[in-house]
Amino acid sequence: MTAMSSKTAGADPIELLETAFRSAMGAALGDEYAETDPIIKSSQNPQFGDYQANFAMGLAKRLGRKPRDLAQEVVDALDLSAVAEPAEVAGPGFINIRLKPGALGHLLDAMDQEALGVQPDPDPHSVAIDLCGVNVAKQMHVGHLRSTIIGDAIARIYERRGRKVFRENHLGDWGLPIAMVIDQLRRAETDLDRLTLPDLDRAYRDAQLSARADVRGLARAMEPPVAGPHRRAELEEQNAGAHEAMENAKRTLVKLQQGDPSIREDWEKLIRVTMDAVYESYELLNVRLGPANNRGESFFRDRLPDVIDAFVREGVAVEDEGALVVRFEDRDRPLLIRKSDGGFLYATTDLAAVRFRVHDLGATRVIYVVDARQRDHFRDIFDAAKKIGWDRTADGAAAELVHIPFGSVLGEDKRPLKTRSGENVTLRSLLVQAIERGEKEVISRAEDPAAPTHGAPRSELQRIGQAVGIGAVKYADLSNDLVRDYVFNFDRMIAFEGRTGPYLQYAHARICSIFARAEIDPESLRDRAVLPDEPEEKTLALMLLKYGGVVDDVARSLEPHRLCTYLYELADAYSSFYQKCPVLKADEASVRDSRLRLSDLTRRVLQDGLDLLGIEAPQRM
Ligand code: ARG
Repeated sequence: MTAMSSKTAGADPIELLETAFRSAMGAALGDEYAETDPIIKSSQNPQFGDYQANFAMGLAKRLGRKPRDLAQEVVDALDLSAVAEPAEVAGPGFINIRLKPGALGHLLDAMDQEALGVQPDPDPHSVAIDLCGVNVAKQMHVGHLRSTIIGDAIARIYERRGRKVFRENHLGDWGLPIAMVIDQLRRAETDLDRLTLPDLDRAYRDAQLSARADVRGLARAMEPPVAGPHRRAELEEQNAGAHEAMENAKRTLVKLQQGDPSIREDWEKLIRVTMDAVYESYELLNVRLGPANNRGESFFRDRLPDVIDAFVREGVAVEDEGALVVRFEDRDRPLLIRKSDGGFLYATTDLAAVRFRVHDLGATRVIYVVDARQRDHFRDIFDAAKKIGWDRTADGAAAELVHIPFGSVLGEDKRPLKTRSGENVTLRSLLVQAIERGEKEVISRAEDPAAPTHGAPRSELQRIGQAVGIGAVKYADLSNDLVRDYVFNFDRMIAFEGRTGPYLQYAHARICSIFARAEIDPESLRDRAVLPDEPEEKTLALMLLKYGGVVDDVARSLEPHRLCTYLYELADAYSSFYQKCPVLKADEASVRDSRLRLSDLTRRVLQDGLDLLGIEAPQRM
């Protein structure tokens, strides 16, 4: 390997140029200018070269100097010998740069390794990702879809960059709602060994209903003109009943928390029923999550007294009418960490979880993929953790606590997605529908005698259909700016054209079939030269070379939609290339081989990028 290729494996030429310019600016103008943006752009007119550096005009104005002189001084200090011809100053102070003839080929050669130009993350510490967080005793609904697939994609991206990742499933498995459901199931004398998910849903709903007192209705009934005696009696009874249901549930919760064996047994059955269904959904969703990732509220239950002790000992929490709160200088809202009756809260558990993740798991980045409605909660948790110093690992590294808030999934009516009868859409029914749609699409395409899937066994078509249906849902979800709500539309997301998962899967499969049709093993071409020459080839090459930088950028920004956009642009660049540049029918063998190598690299980047999004890339479609 040459010195250049080891340093620049798969690097984006723009980045290489930026680095070279920064060091020249530092050398020519003084160290403080080594941070100035050289403003490198692709050249509009190939006659003037491949790139332009446009910093001189603005900087000269600030320094009161002539732009051309300034540009020349930097050019004199510039060493681009690794990738480009000597740069030239032109016009009012532009700097034109032309890549060396073989430069793109060398960069692509260097990228042509398993890593595809993705650089390892230098931080040796782990990352913890809080994702999914379903509430036990309830079916997973679409809200949990987003947390699960966004969290899994981010986890894959960190893993790809060599970080140890802990996927932390902070299950809601230890609160009053569960005690309420246990009570409800006992009241209805449900056989817990035959418990089904719909039973559980019903029990959850009934439990909520019987605990919901119509306090406001009662107050109104007492105001003049006073409601009839019948209505009043009814409301009073409902209130009393609700009160009793709540009191019962609280007692059940205390028993559960104290380890009462029979309540405990019911609790375990409930968890088993819920989680078995959740694991099935994980499987359908192609996310890397399972029982080993469960560290829910119940996991932290024994650590809560310790949390309170620490906050009191360090003087970070204070008493307030019998309760314990943390106050913040910049807001009125205090964070309640222990109720006046001694009970712990959602927040107490989250503080225990922060400490565990940073201290015990050694994470220097803890990423919470939780919907936007919990923004204030996490702001409070993070600030409280900082106040007490739980944002340092055991070896003293600073840990960053980040909430990635995401928006809701809406129906066509722009309201939270509901079924026709007005219920929350369960995740499972949504996935089953997606898979059916995918299968239908794939099966109907296979009817075309020219399709690569024509004549494939039904089971294979179904497998491909599942990948397409799920890929459609995931790409549609991940390709949005996360904080924005988005409208769920099957027809749009499953289309084979446009910014969709299936379009990318199809682009990948199409390249696979080029090789399959010609019966060429891409491995056998590794020693052939890759020589991008036509404009479409160069555009494709530059696009490929961006991949490592995009993955790095997504790990930093936590915005998977940037990877989605990149993959779409790559597929598009390939499509233009394929239209303009014959591959198998190229005039010369060397050109054909070069184009095959470009095709193979594109295929691998598409596959790798889709894998980071948790989307499968079938070989044929
Ligand atoms: N179970 C919670 C809910 O459904 C989500 C948990 C989020 N994670 C956390 N560490 N609080 O609202």
